[in-house]
Order: sequence, then C-alpha cells, then structure tokens
Amino acid sequence: RKQTLTNEERYITEELKEREVRILTAQDDLNELEYDIFVGLRNEVGEYAEEIRNVSRAVAAIDVLCGLAEVAIYQNYVRPTMTDSRELKIVEGRHPVVEKYLPAGFFVPNTAILGSKNVEENNSGITPYPAPDLIILTGPNASGKSCYLRQVGLIQLMAQTGSFIPASSAVLGVSDRIFTRVGAVDDLATGQSTFMVEMNETANILNHATEKSLVLLDEIGRGTATFDGISIAWSVAEYLATEILSRTIFATHYHELNELSSILDNVANYQVTVKELPDKIVFLHQVQPGGADKSYGIEAGRLAGLPDSVIQRARQVMQQIEKHSKIAIGLRKGIKKKEEEEVITVEQLDIFSEEFGDSLL
Ligand SMILES: Nc1ncnc2c1ncn2[C@@H]1O[C@H](COP(=O)(O)OP(=O)(O)OP(=O)(O)O)[C@@H](O)[C@H]1O
Ligand SMILES: [Mg+2]
Repeated sequence: RKQTLTNEERYITEELKEREVRILTAQDDLNELEYDIFVGLRNEVGEYAEEIRNVSRAVAAIDVLCGLAEVAIYQNYVRPTMTDSRELKIVEGRHPVVEKYLPAGFFVPNTAILGSKNVEENNSGITPYPAPDLIILTGPNASGKSCYLRQVGLIQLMAQTGSFIPASSAVLGVSDRIFTRVGAVDDLATGQSTFMVEMNETANILNHATEKSLVLLDEIGRGTATFDGISIAWSVAEYLATEILSRTIFATHYHELNELSSILDNVANYQVTVKELPDKIVFLHQVQPGGADKSYGIEAGRLAGLPDSVIQRARQVMQQIEKHSKIAIGLRKGIKKKEEEEVITVEQLDIFSEEFGDSLL
C-alpha cells in the first residue's frame, strides 16, 4: 500500500515503481544519449578536421572558378593580358551588370585607354604608352558617364581576381589599389553631411593613391556651391594629374574642367555623346574624344515630370545665367597658374548683382 485518502486506497507494485522511474527520467536519458552520440561524432569529425578543411577549400575554389568560367562563356568574356606597367587598355568594354539588364545588343561597348607613362620604363625598356593619365569625362545627364566609370573599375577588379572580362580585348597593368568616389550618401548618425562624406573620401584618395592606383571620381564637388565645387574639382583633378600621376577617370558636369587638357599634357577630354533632335535628345551612350558643352539637365527634369511652368522658368533663369556668367572665360584666362585661382571667386557675386537680379524679374 502506498497511500490512504478519504475515499480511496492506492497500491503500488515493484514493477510499477520501476516503470514510473523510467518514465520520469526518460527525457533526461534521451538528452544524455543524444549528447553522447553528438560528442562521439564530433570527436570522429575532429580527427579529420584538417582533411575536411582542405577538401572544402578546394571545393570552394573549384566552385568559384566554375562560376567564373560559366559566366565567361555565356557572357562572351575574354582573357585580359596582365602587365606590370601602368597601361590600361580596354577595347570595347561592357558593364557586366547593366549589360545583363538590357535586351541583348542594346548595351553600347566603349574603349578606355589610360596610363601614358610606364613606371618600369627605365628598367624594362618599354616605351611610354601614348595615353592620358587623367580623363575628364563629360556628357549630358543619363548619357552613361557613371556606367563607363564603373565598368572600367569592375573590369580592372575582375581581371585582378583572376576572372575573364566583358570586353573584346584588354591589356591591364596591375593596380595597387582601386579608389572610387561615386554616389551621394550621408552619414547623419556619425555627424557627417553628404558633402563632408564626399570630402572625406576624396581626402582619403588624395592621401593614399599612388601612380600605380586606378582612381574613379564621379562628380566630385557637386555637393556645394557651384564655384566652390568647380574650384575643388579643378584642384583635385590637377593634383591627381601632376602630383600623384594615378590613372584617373573624372566624370563631371563642370565643363570648365575641359580646360585642364589644354594646360596639362597627360589630361584628355572624353564625352558620352547624344544626338539632338528638334523635340528630344537620343542617348547614344558612345564615349568619344572631346568635351561636352551642355548637360541637358532641364531636359532630364522635363522627362522626369517636373511641372511645365517650372521647366519654362528654369530655361529663363539659365538663359540669364549663361548671358552673365564669365566663368568659362575666367578659367581660360585666369587659371594657368595655381596662385591665380582667386580670379573666379569674384564671379560668384555676379548672381547677386543688381544687374542680374533685375533681368530675372
Ligand atoms: N554603354 C551603355 N549602353 C547602353 N545603355 C547605357 C550605357 N551606359 C549607360 N546606359 C544606360 O543609361 C543610364 C544612365 O547612365 P548613367 O547613370 O551612367 O548616366 P550619367 O551620365 O552618369 O548621368 P548623370 O549625369 O545624371 O549622373 C543607365 O542606367 C543605363 O541604363
Ligand atoms: Mg552619373
């Protein structure tokens, strides 16, 4: 007998008791058993850890190489010739991602040639390559400047990781680093405005780039007042072309920067072309020598759906500004030497002058 209650008696046998204990401890036994098996398995695997790691590394490498090989075949990539020089010559290069988003045949391939002086030239006897160190790339909004800039960076990166590349041929000097300054972001959490982020990144590039680096700058200086912006853009470009001698592509809407090429031998102007029809512009996405003189920014605003009255007013304002600003002339005449840069700061007052204000009203 086990227990006596008011209305009942409880009995238990030896066998029932054993069964009760087994039921009550079943979950713990189960866990213990499972853990023992797990530890056994872990020890067994541990003994082969080295082999397993080696095999998985090899499988990962094969996986990456198969991936690169597959994409190389299906996307028509070619093997670049890698050199120790500063030469960068991509013939009919394509942007690997943008190309995939467009219907077949719609992507316009473009050639890029950079790196006029050869670092090794004295040792190896290689003659300098007749190509600029710095390209000033202009062209209307949405013509393809950013795309071109990024495709050059991606192709260099892909080549240095050992991949084939989207081009019809290429000779690429190994870069020590690829620096990029693209896109507009801010970092309010750490107290950095859009322009401060841009300047920090630019400072980092100017402080660390070497003549073996590839530098890609997309619209440096646009995050501040126009004349501050142009001045910064100008001096950054000049510094890269004369002091650092890195290979650089500088995409910009500041057409004034095209003047640099008439002052510095290793700077060239390229533009992404469009065709102007009476009622619209057609994007050709073709990169050609020369500098653009218009951005068609108002046209881009119209296409994006800004109200008609805003567009008309913008055209009026632009006409006035074009009539009154002498900035391009100022740059041509005044900035042959660095010390004379103050010349353009006077210009900014123009916008606020009485004459200018009256003509807008
Ligand atoms: N080579 C090309 N072939 C076909 N389409 C292109 C090519 N390059 C760019 N595009 C198309 O044009 C669009 C705009 O290009 P991108 O952003 O490079 O212009 P952008 O000149 O940098 O303009 P913005 O001055 O406004 O920054 C891309 O999203 C892409 O769809
Ligand atoms: Mg762009």
